[in-house]
Order: sequence, then structure tokens, then C-alpha cells
Amino acid sequence: MYSLWKRFVKKDASSEVTNRIQHIKQFDVPQHIAIIMDGNGRWAKKRALPRVAGHHEGMKTVRKITKVANKLGVKTLTVYAFSTENWKRPKSEVDFLMKLPQEFLGTFLPELISENVRVETIGDLSLLPSHTQNAVIRAMEDTKDNDGMILNFALNYGSRGEIVSAVNSIIEDAKNGIIKDGITEQMLSSYLMTKHLSDPDLLIRTSGEIRLSNFMLWQAAYTELWFTEVLWPDFSEEHLLQAVEEYQKRSRRFGGV
Ligand code: FPP
Repeated sequence: MYSLWKRFVKKDASSEVTNRIQHIKQFDVPQHIAIIMDGNGRWAKKRALPRVAGHHEGMKTVRKITKVANKLGVKTLTVYAFSTENWKRPKSEVDFLMKLPQEFLGTFLPELISENVRVETIGDLSLLPSHTQNAVIRAMEDTKDNDGMILNFALNYGSRGEIVSAVNSIIEDAKNGIIKDGITEQMLSSYLMTKHLSDPDLLIRTSGEIRLSNFMLWQAAYTELWFTEVLWPDFSEEHLLQAVEEYQKRSRRFGGV
């Protein structure tokens, strides 16, 4: 009897999510959502678990949120999975984080393929262990013809480094006569790792921290920011819908009136 009731409650909650998604889709849905997935360590600590247990649970949240973002019709979902600063963490934690793309893609790649999701990355992959690189490269290859949502992993990504390397390439192209006049904003954007993507419309950071932590600094110039106290492993479909609903209530003026 209890399990029947539980099944009923679950079904009811999922149909509520479906109705909410249908409602949201009638209005302006952010084309690009970027997420700073923070709070895995604190989630684990609260449960007296090792920090890596939080990262593992956070990996499952990526799957959940990918599915709902896709259902909303989001074009790009960028998730900050490993920053250029995260190398400072203990080796055991870095090693664990480096295994997550492999586990995630090993488990969910067929599902991503069936949902027409294309896997992409930003960040310098060359410094990642070869097992991580191989998993990611294989997923990109296997999903390259999918034309649905882009699931973009920021891996060994840092925004200042990205801008510096863009400027160095511009200098090189200027020396070689490829660039003749001064540089423009559009030109600089076209040298970033996100050159083929629109700027994020909505940036979410979990766990109560209110900063950008070297994430998409150039691209986020006019992004709507949404912060929540919820720790990433606890972040649910409903939280994403809440963020999008609040985004839809904002008036985006891009400096105009
Ligand atoms: C920040 O939380 C989180 C990270 C540095 C790693 C984020 C990675 C995942 C959520 C898993 C990635 C999944 C895939 C599929 C690659 P924190 O450890 O700084 O948390 P804390 O501030 O509570 O210590």
C-alpha cells in the first residue's frame, strides 16, 4: 500500500514538472545556461562522507539537469566541471574528479545520444590524464552529428587564461598580416573557446557563494546571474525551473532603457 502511495506521489510530482516545463516554454527560454556546480564537499561533510562522495553525487545531478534543460529547449548547457585552479586540490581528489567524465560518459553516453545531445568541451584538454581525454574525445566524436542541446563541459578551464591565449593568437595573426586593423569585441569573441556559442543568458551558482571564480568573465558581461544556497548534489529539476522562471521575470536591457 505504502509503495503504491509512493509511486503515486512520484508520478504526480513528475507530471507537475512536465506541466511547469510546458508553461515555461511559452515564454523566453534562456538559450545558453551556464552553471557553477558548487557545494559538493559541504554536501559530503554534512553526511560525514569523504568529499569525493559529494562529487560523485554531483555527477548524478549533471545527468538530471541535462535532461530537464534539454526538455526546456535550452540550446547550450555549460557546466564548470574543473577549473584551472582546481589542480591545487589534494591529488586524491583531483584523481577522483578526473575519473568522473569517464564514469559519466561510460554510463550515460547512450542516453545522451538517444536524446540528441552533443557533447563539447571548453578548456585545455591536453593537460588532463589520457583516460579523461579519451573518454571526452570519444563522446564528442560519438555525438558530433547530434543537433540537439550542446552539453558543454568546462574542463581545465579558466577565463583569464582563455582571454590571454586569445590575445596572443590575435598578436600572432596581426604579425602575420591576417589582422590589419585594430581589434573589435566581436573579433576577440571569435578567438575564445566559446566562439561558436552564444553568450550565456543565465548563470547559476549553487551553495551560497556569490562570485564568478574565473568562469566566462568575457561571455557573462550581460548574463543574468542566479545564486542559490542549495548545494549542487541537492540541486533538482524544480530548482532549475525556479531559476528559469525568475530569469523570465527579469527585464534584460543590455545597457539600454
Ligand atoms: C565544487 O564543489 C565542485 C567541483 C570543483 C567539481 C564539480 C564537479 C562535479 C559536480 C562533477 C562533474 C561531473 C562530470 C560529469 C564531469 P566543492 O568541492 O568546491 O564544494 P565545497 O565548496 O562544498 O567544498
